[in-house]
Amino acid sequence: MNRAQRIGILTGGGDAPGLNAVIESCTSVLRRAGVEVQGVADGFEGIFRQELSEIENLTGLHAQAGSILGTSNRSRLLGRESEFLKAYQGLGLDGLLVCGGDGTFTALRELRAEIPMIGLPKTIDNDLGGTERSLGYDTACSVVAESAEALRASASAHRRIFLLETMGRNAGWIALGGGLAAMADVILIPERPYSREGLRLFLRGKKTGQRGLIMVVAEGVAFEGGSSNSMARWLEKEVDWEVREVVLGHMQRCRPPTSSDRIFSISLGVKAAQLILTKSWGQALAYQKGEIVPVDLENFMGEPVFIPSHHPAIAAAQSLGLFI
Ligand code: F6P
Repeated sequence: MNRAQRIGILTGGGDAPGLNAVIESCTSVLRRAGVEVQGVADGFEGIFRQELSEIENLTGLHAQAGSILGTSNRSRLLGRESEFLKAYQGLGLDGLLVCGGDGTFTALRELRAEIPMIGLPKTIDNDLGGTERSLGYDTACSVVAESAEALRASASAHRRIFLLETMGRNAGWIALGGGLAAMADVILIPERPYSREGLRLFLRGKKTGQRGLIMVVAEGVAFEGGSSNSMARWLEKEVDWEVREVVLGHMQRCRPPTSSDRIFSISLGVKAAQLILTKSWGQALAYQKGEIVPVDLENFMGEPVFIPSHHPAIAAAQSLGLFI
């Protein structure tokens, strides 16, 4: 009789809401099929340290933020691939389920042929190539939208502009999704360079009719001086309207997943288990045209993906008269 399969689950890069839902759903399906599942501690670090752990209590994990396995956002793998491979081989695993973003998968590129892997798309930034959606993105957008709506009340009470800075690294997906969901007055994303004069005129035009105003600005938007603080001070001078900036930061990553992110993550976990059971290594699960489909893992190992100029959310914002 064949020895039962022994699988490791690894979460790499920044945490994202939905990771624990993947861990719960995938482990649960695999265990029902008699597969042994081990958690890899702290992303790539756990392989180097050869640190595995039994995932004991699965109940309720799907609703929790973070990653019970731990993760790390520094790729200490590059240049240490053979050390990594040796450590992996000493663990007695038949394969790895890797939940990661572009940093994680790019780092694993060299090891693809040697380590049997299945990849799942995880990043609140939503900029992973090969998939139209990554787990955690919907929750991050909800946090942005909720915060923008809450700030609208204060903006109006004080006759202020609020500049809400979102995460997203060099891409504007979170600012676009969250900004449109809140119908923010201004959405600035790195993919669409804006004219300062255009922005100044837009805000001045709004000042007569509106007590307060919400701007959602992606962290990757370039501004001389580099930060939302410099942009806020420039606006105060140019538009003569009080401006306060709020940097949402890690609040976008630490909330329990929305129901949409839960369903997505649970489904990813179940489908990943099916790929593992059929030993379909070298595959990743992508979201394309409304469906979760297996794609070559290679598709996740490219450059980050930015918002195309013809994206429907941009067209919707423009039709609504928002500044984008
Ligand atoms: O890639 C996810 C992300 O949250 C980015 O949006 C952000 O720029 C970065 O990670 C923050 O990284 P750290 O958690 O290391 O501060």
